[in-house]
Amino acid sequence: MPTLAFLLVLFFAAIHVAFSLTDGLLPNGNFELGPKPSEMKGTVVIGGRHAIPEWEISGYIEYVKSGQKQGDMLLVVPEGAYAVRLGNEASIKQRLKVVKGMYYSITFVAARTCAQEERLNVSVSPDSGILPMQTLYSSNGWDAYAWAFQAEYPEVDLVLHNPGVEEDPACGPLIDSIALKALYPPKLTNKNILKNGDFEEGPYVFPNTSSGVLIPPNIEDDHSPLPGWMVESLKAVKYIDSAHFSVPQGRRAVELVAGKESAIAQVVRTIPGKTYVLSFAVGDANNACEGSMIVEGFAGKDTIKVPYESKGKGGYKRAALKFVAVSTRTRIMFLSTFYTMRSDDSSSLCGPVIDDVKLLSLRKP
Ligand SMILES: *[C@@H]1O[C@H](CO)[C@@H](O)[C@H](O)[C@H]1NC(C)=O
Ligand SMILES: *[C@@H]1O[C@H](CO)[C@@H](O)[C@H](O)[C@H]1NC(C)=O
Repeated sequence: MPTLAFLLVLFFAAIHVAFSLTDGLLPNGNFELGPKPSEMKGTVVIGGRHAIPEWEISGYIEYVKSGQKQGDMLLVVPEGAYAVRLGNEASIKQRLKVVKGMYYSITFVAARTCAQEERLNVSVSPDSGILPMQTLYSSNGWDAYAWAFQAEYPEVDLVLHNPGVEEDPACGPLIDSIALKALYPPKLTNKNILKNGDFEEGPYVFPNTSSGVLIPPNIEDDHSPLPGWMVESLKAVKYIDSAHFSVPQGRRAVELVAGKESAIAQVVRTIPGKTYVLSFAVGDANNACEGSMIVEGFAGKDTIKVPYESKGKGGYKRAALKFVAVSTRTRIMFLSTFYTMRSDDSSSLCGPVIDDVKLLSLRKP
């Protein structure tokens, strides 16, 4: 007789397979299917709520083609040939089939256009998040952003809404690819007190875009697209993959792109009086991010500063911080001391990479 535990393992393995298949671009998630010519006036969609296949739209929506001009700016679309622009109070919506109770991450590629501070309200009821796009992380203007939610129903509505009200109704973020990925709560192992210390579990990364995925700051009760970790402070961190970047260990890592304005943190259970070792890798992503860098690691009140000389061509070193816990909970945090700009592109923020973070207790300190 198979044991219950064995059946449960099979069951979860089956779920894992079933839902791994759904990871990826949403139906018409790159907007390559567009309105009929009769449903457009210039670039503005006038054909009603269902004019863009698979989506329900509302408000002032433009359907833009790569190479089209806006003022003196040439629009470039990162994936395929088309994208949508959300004007004042405009939104796009798609119903998603999900598993109630599971966590998901949305990755979408967006660019701000005319306004200085464009924002997007991404929501899957009852969760929502306002994602600012005022800071340029990549010079072509397009960045991939991640946001996470927990499904409260088997079918949920994903809504991307531009809450902005600009004088020019055509101002507003451009959206291209939108993808979904199921997130699995990280398991603790006897090799690490930290969850997801290798960052292998995280948001969907588009195979065709080499920009990485920005993980915006999340507040306490939000769900993180980077399971186990919280992005704190004001700005995002960047999730990078080994297909496009140099990564110290495994397939994924985090680039600290916004100096002291962005930090990643995790609170762990510790035993007061016990000695622990926090070890991690610091490197660069092989993305022309050159210079003297410093990663600051924190374990409660203990800190370590790890200098790293980057030639921007990849590579890493390891560091460790030994500390005695003073509380039942210890906050582990990392940030970059400095801002760095790419040497091949002075408008793109970049920074040191962190990976393979481990926390272990020492038996014989
Ligand atoms: C974002 O959208 C959600 C769902 O429509 C809404 O409940 C929430 O109030 C919005 N947030 C802001 C700040 O507009
Ligand atoms: C990636 O690019 C290839 C070739 O251009 C294309 O066939 C494929 O659909 C793209 N994949 C995604 C997920 O966009």
